[in-house]
Amino acid sequence: MSERFEGRTALITGAGSGIGRATTLRLVEEGATVFALDIDEARLKETAELGGEQVVVRPTDVTVVAECKTAVAEAVERLGKLDILGNVAGIAANAHLTDVTEADYRRMFGVNVDAYFFLAQAAIPHLLEANGVIVNIASNAGLMGQAFSVVYTMTKGAVVQLTRSLAMEYMKRPLRVVAIAPGGTDTALVRNFSMPDDVDWDLIGRYTSPRGFAKPEDIAALFCFLASDEAKNIHGAIVSSDNGLTAG
Ligand SMILES: NC(=O)c1ccc[n+]([C@@H]2O[C@H](COP(=O)([O-])OP(=O)(O)OC[C@H]3O[C@@H](n4cnc5c(N)ncnc54)[C@H](O)[C@@H]3O)[C@@H](O)[C@H]2O)c1
Repeated sequence: MSERFEGRTALITGAGSGIGRATTLRLVEEGATVFALDIDEARLKETAELGGEQVVVRPTDVTVVAECKTAVAEAVERLGKLDILGNVAGIAANAHLTDVTEADYRRMFGVNVDAYFFLAQAAIPHLLEANGVIVNIASNAGLMGQAFSVVYTMTKGAVVQLTRSLAMEYMKRPLRVVAIAPGGTDTALVRNFSMPDDVDWDLIGRYTSPRGFAKPEDIAALFCFLASDEAKNIHGAIVSSDNGLTAG
């Protein structure tokens, strides 16, 4: 394993599971120290056990804006600086539009959009000092319409636009901003997928690639490339890793 992140620091959300855990462990393998956030304290602890002393955990509900600000401040205090912000935590749910409650709607925007914005806002002054990078996890669902997932697709579309607009605003400053748009990836998020009984499966089939699912480690590898100096010319891009799902 290379040491692309020797001496570098990262704040990763959703670090207790799936893509966030795989990313945390890959960053650590390549030399980084990671300030790892998740609402699930037990799973976060497991990530720390797997990653060793280069993983510093902070149980955090990223929907609480004040917590996002404090977490960034603590990360800088503990690690001395911040080179990488990985906005990874996300939730998904499938339902008929008419069945979505206001609480479901607000929760999904809270985790998938508000947290990405407020963590970026708090982290950017520190990232600018470090010539840093933000990697946001969007989704193929942010690039295409999807039946029975209207709110999720809206949130991921917002992540796409957050990424592009931040890239424009910081075009002349020492900060890169990119997003990954994964397709189906084998994590708890998809394993726990449930659909209303009466959905039209003919429509749902379009959101699964015939080439199958990615592993969280595949997305972590792309994350680490995009966060590294090897990707120094990639700014404002939404990089798909979706087994061709959005090809046509
Ligand atoms: N798995 C897929 O097929 C897929 C496809 C495209 C995009 N994504 C995106 O990838 C990202 C990671 O998801 P995953 O597939 O690894 O799922 P996952 O369920 O394995 O991990 C998500 C993590 O986010 C954490 N989380 C949820 N709410 C939180 C909160 N309020 N505060 C802090 N942490 C919270 C969970 O506890 C969990 O550990 C998400 O943004 C998801 O939308 C996943």
